[in-house]
Parts: sequence; C-alpha cells; structure tokens
Amino acid sequence: MNCFIHKEIPAADAYIIPVQASRNLLMDLPSRPLREAADYVVRHLPQDAGLKEISFLSEEKEILVVGVSLAKEPLRPRDVYLSMAQALRKCKRSGAKDVAILLDNCPPLAAEPVLLGTTARLAELVNYENRGQKSVCPQDTGFHNVALVTAAEGLDTVLEQALCCARGTTAARELCNQRASSQTPETLAEDAARLCRESGCEVEILTAAEAASLNMDAFLAVARGAQNTPPVVIILRWLHGGDTPTVGLIGKGIVYDSGGYSLKSNTSMRNMFDDMGGGAAVIGAMSAIAGSRLPVNAVGVIAACENKISYNAYLPGDIIGSMAGKTIEVTNTDAEGRLTLADALTLAIHREKCDLLVDIATLTGAAKNAVGRFASAVFSNDDEFFQLLKKAADIASEKVWRLDLDPEMRPCLNSPVADLRNGSINPSDGGGAMLAALFLQEFTEGKPWIHIDMAGVNFRLEPPAFSAAGATGYGAALLYCLAKELPDFWGRCTEK
Ligand code: BES
Ligand code: ZN
Ligand code: ZN
Repeated sequence: MNCFIHKEIPAADAYIIPVQASRNLLMDLPSRPLREAADYVVRHLPQDAGLKEISFLSEEKEILVVGVSLAKEPLRPRDVYLSMAQALRKCKRSGAKDVAILLDNCPPLAAEPVLLGTTARLAELVNYENRGQKSVCPQDTGFHNVALVTAAEGLDTVLEQALCCARGTTAARELCNQRASSQTPETLAEDAARLCRESGCEVEILTAAEAASLNMDAFLAVARGAQNTPPVVIILRWLHGGDTPTVGLIGKGIVYDSGGYSLKSNTSMRNMFDDMGGGAAVIGAMSAIAGSRLPVNAVGVIAACENKISYNAYLPGDIIGSMAGKTIEVTNTDAEGRLTLADALTLAIHREKCDLLVDIATLTGAAKNAVGRFASAVFSNDDEFFQLLKKAADIASEKVWRLDLDPEMRPCLNSPVADLRNGSINPSDGGGAMLAALFLQEFTEGKPWIHIDMAGVNFRLEPPAFSAAGATGYGAALLYCLAKELPDFWGRCTEK
C-alpha cells in the first residue's frame, strides 16, 4: 500500500470527502457526475459526526463517494481518528483499491500536522488484515494507493513519521496475534531483533543464564514452569538524544499466561497468547522511534517468558527473590506479570541507567473492569510526566484513564514472611489494578514512572473500525508519540 500526498485529485475507486461545519464542497472534483454525487452526499451529511456514502457509475466503473461529517470545532484527533477510520473501512469493504481523501475540503486536516498524521496512520491501520492461518484466504483485500489530496506544501516529514508510527502499530499487532505454540520467548526476541535492527536500534538478547547472573530471580521463577521454551530478556537501545535523560520503555512479555498452578479457566485462558501485548507495543514503538530518527535516548526492555505448569514450576506460597534484592511471597502464580516487570524495571534502572520509566502491560482484568475497553488504566508517581503521556495519548488517539495510587492500600501487599507479596490474600480488598501498580512502584526507586495497564484495550474480537479482529496494537503509537514529545519536554524542564 502506498500512502502519499497528491496536489491534484487523482482518478480513484473511492473518494472520501471530509466536511466540517459549512457543508460545502470546496474541492473541485474532476468530473461532473462525480461533482454531483459528492455534492449530494455532502449536502445530506448528518449534523453531528457521521458518514454518508453513495456509489455512482462512471463510464467504466462504479465509484464510491463517502462524506465524513466532522462537526465539532476545534477538531480533535480522536474524532478524526474514529470517523476517518469508518470511512476508510467502508471503502475497503466495498473493494476500493485506490482511494483519494480530499483533505482541503476540511482545511485543518492538512494544516494541522497531528490531524494529517492521524489520517495517514489510518490508511495503514485500516488496511491491516489479521490473516491467521486460514487455508483459503482472500487475497488483495487492501488498498493499493491512498492519496491525501491537498495543495499544502512541506508535509513530507509529517507523513513519513506518521507512516513509520503506523508500521510500529502493525508490527505490534502481528507479534501479538501469533499463537503461543508458534511464538516462544526466543522467536519473539528474533522478531524484535530483526525489526529493530532494521530500523537502527542496538539489540541485546540476554539468555536465562545471563538473567540468573543478574539475579533476576522473580522473572526466572515465573519462567521456570516452561521447560522447553527458555526465557530471554530483550533490550532495544536507541541513544540519540545527546545528554538528555534516558527513558526506559518496559513491556510485559508473557508469550502465554496459563495462570500457572493458580490455573485460569478455559475461557480466561483462550486469548492468553496476547499477554505480550505490552512487549509488542514496546517493540513497535522502538522500531518507529529509530525509524524516524527521533533525537531521544530510549531503551526498551522486555523480560519474555511463559507462565506454564510443570513439575518445576513455581508454586503459590513460594518465597522468591528479585533483582532489586526484595523477597516476594507468591500468593497467586497468575499475578506473574508484575514479577517479570519488577525485574525488568530494576534492569532498566541499574543496567541501562534509565532516568524515567514507562511500563506497559496486560496486567489485570481489574483494569478493564475499572475503565472499560476504550482506554488503558494509567498510574503515575509524577504529575508532569503523566501530563506528557496524556498529550501523547491525545495525539496518538490511544486513550488513557488515570487512576490514583492510594497508599492506604499498600499494606495489602505486606507479607509476614517476605518483604512483600505479589497480591492481596483477601479478595474483598478489590482495587486489583491499583494493587498491581503499588507492587510495581516498589521497584521504581523513586524515578518518575508511569504504569500503563492495557488489559482492556489490547485485544478485540469485534474490532473497532481502525483495527482488525484480534490485537489492536495499542501502545506502540502512544509510546512513539510520548518519545516524540520528549525533546520539547526537556527543553521546558531546563528553562524552569
Ligand atoms: N494476563 C493477566 C491479566 C489479563 C486478564 C489480561 C484479562 C487480559 C485480559 C494477568 O497475568 C493476570 O492473570 N492477572 C490476575 C491478577 C490476580 C491474580 C491478582 C487477574 O487479573 O485476575
Ligand atoms: Zn496471569
Ligand atoms: Zn498475565
């Protein structure tokens, strides 16, 4: 699929005409029947955000015209994201190969880089198919060309970066949609290395023995149940920000979560091949950060393993160590993500010298219950850092919903026999998403830190318009946009 800026309106199978408020057709379409069809569509658009479509027959073929009403002012990226995704999906489902989006019909779409980027990203995001392994699979279901039609100049970098970011999301989806019997920690590492080396990252993969020599005992305890699929630590470095601080992006990398001896039910286990969604987001983001040569220092860390059962697996009641030196009583082997993340955080701080930390994980079912399936649940110990993430979330159109870290709940993690426990033993405590965050906070050593629990947004069997069924790729764009904001953030920090 090619996505490019075009000055004139090209011949296409489908035209998307975004309209804001005034409801006039501004761009001069190349043929009279097309003009009339478009005029009709535009005049009959709903008052609030919505779509109107019409097919008409030109001399040789049927042409689809989709009007998009973007009623609100000022236009917010998420509004553009949702309605443009719907329009593109309609075009794709009707079999359109060449689509022209008439940006100048809604001037902010070309004038505001964030909105241009949003539209460009959607061409890639909507085009994505989760092909799985069907033996009969329709080919050529996607776009060939998506032309962003505008007379505006100087948009090349914005377009390039947007496509780079969208390819990061696609990579995250692809990684996350792989089934656990064909994806092991090692194949995840190989895929990450290939993707990230191609775009310029330095990649280091630590073996189980190396992790052991670093005392990553919490991570290795989780990994112990999987006999034939050894754990690895994936480290992705992009250090091109001069003497600015280094941000650590830490992704949960459980390639399968059976729950371990605290076994999940069949229905809760079915999709647990997606439990490396946070890791996938980090890999996608790092490849995009490097691909667009962002002037930042970023290190991705993914402690990848499986949470399985065997004679060797860790057990409820075990007391395990950790790289930070804290001992942990395992109350539930299904609360494994926080154990692997704890050591990954410590590695990011001590070995990779990260100054700020963002972890992202499919960590708790409770996060989904708390904030639903449209936003991740976010916790942070630093208001300014969170504001930066919020800005990135608005730009990326990947929503975040901040929840409090309430120290009154911290005693639920006290253990009589270890420094802390990995979950409360009293189900009536509730607050599962926050308890997981409070656990992780113990391993942040006071650094500015954001925890993104993406359990609710990672996977959708009934997909939104911007995704195919399966992994949404949530997080890759969010982290990429966060990294993109960092140079300004450092600039503002030094001014103060
Ligand atoms: N991977 C799961 C969380 C999850 C649940 C992700 C649903 C996606 C959809 C995680 O490892 C887990 O099992 N968490 C437990 C924690 C509990 C045992 C304290 C949970 O949420 O039930
Ligand atoms: Zn689990
Ligand atoms: Zn898990």
